[in-house]
Amino acid sequence: MAEGAVVIVGGTAGIGRQLAQSYVDEGREVVITGRDTERAQSVAEELGGSSASGVGFDLADPHCIADALSGVGTVDYLVLAAIERDVNTVKEYDIDRAIRLATLKLVGYAEVLHCLHPKLHDDSSVLMFGGLAKERPYPGSTTVTSVNGAVETMVRTFATELAPIRVNALHPGIVGDSPYWEGNDAVIEATKARTPTGRLATMADVSAAARFLLENRSVNGVNLAVDGGWVIL
Ligand SMILES: NC(=O)c1ccc[n+]([C@@H]2O[C@H](COP(=O)([O-])OP(=O)(O)OC[C@H]3O[C@@H](n4cnc5c(N)ncnc54)[C@H](OP(=O)(O)O)[C@@H]3O)[C@@H](O)[C@H]2O)c1
Repeated sequence: MAEGAVVIVGGTAGIGRQLAQSYVDEGREVVITGRDTERAQSVAEELGGSSASGVGFDLADPHCIADALSGVGTVDYLVLAAIERDVNTVKEYDIDRAIRLATLKLVGYAEVLHCLHPKLHDDSSVLMFGGLAKERPYPGSTTVTSVNGAVETMVRTFATELAPIRVNALHPGIVGDSPYWEGNDAVIEATKARTPTGRLATMADVSAAARFLLENRSVNGVNLAVDGGWVIL
């Protein structure tokens, strides 16, 4: 395989950043993205090594994505991990927030792939992040549940259209040590109590699963839950 870059959209924070760090530590060329170029570049510096760089664009404004990604070279692995959560119920509905999140995951993820597919090669792979809100809605998850459900179906269309490039998705349950859930002990404890393993997945668990999906050359079209069995209870 050519030594192309690992591109992580949503690599400035949380799970994406942890995954970026694991590839930087191996000396891989890594491109991370977030909404703001300066912040993305500064996080890339924090990751260390000379092989990380940062790019800024707003996935909810898909027309700007092609320009922002025009400097990216050959890509071995493309990870689509970004999210800008809303809290929406059908009874109290914020249209603007819903449009941002729906655009971000449905159109933004697809447009990144559209822009970068000429930079992928036959052995490249793509990994999208959904999440188990697709199976387990909670009050306020109307949009999150919908877009993460859509990720499951996008795996199938993208893997078909881009073959032989592999496309998979990872659907975590609540990732106990991720920044988003910090301080939310009530949700963490309640979820743990319903998880057969008695513990929540960690960012390290999710990062290892992400690398398996990206790197195993026979894994394709898979939607993988990483949740300690939470959805079966
Ligand atoms: N954490 C969990 O427990 C959990 C559970 C289930 C599923 N997931 C899924 O796992 C993925 C990562 O979650 P996380 O909690 O690690 O995320 P996070 O810490 O909230 O980080 C979100 C990332 O997305 C970027 N981003 C946000 N809005 C953006 C926009 N409009 N355009 C471009 N980039 C944007 C952020 O960059 P900047 O802030 O630099 O702009 C950041 O890099 C998500 O897809 C999420 O749905 C996570």
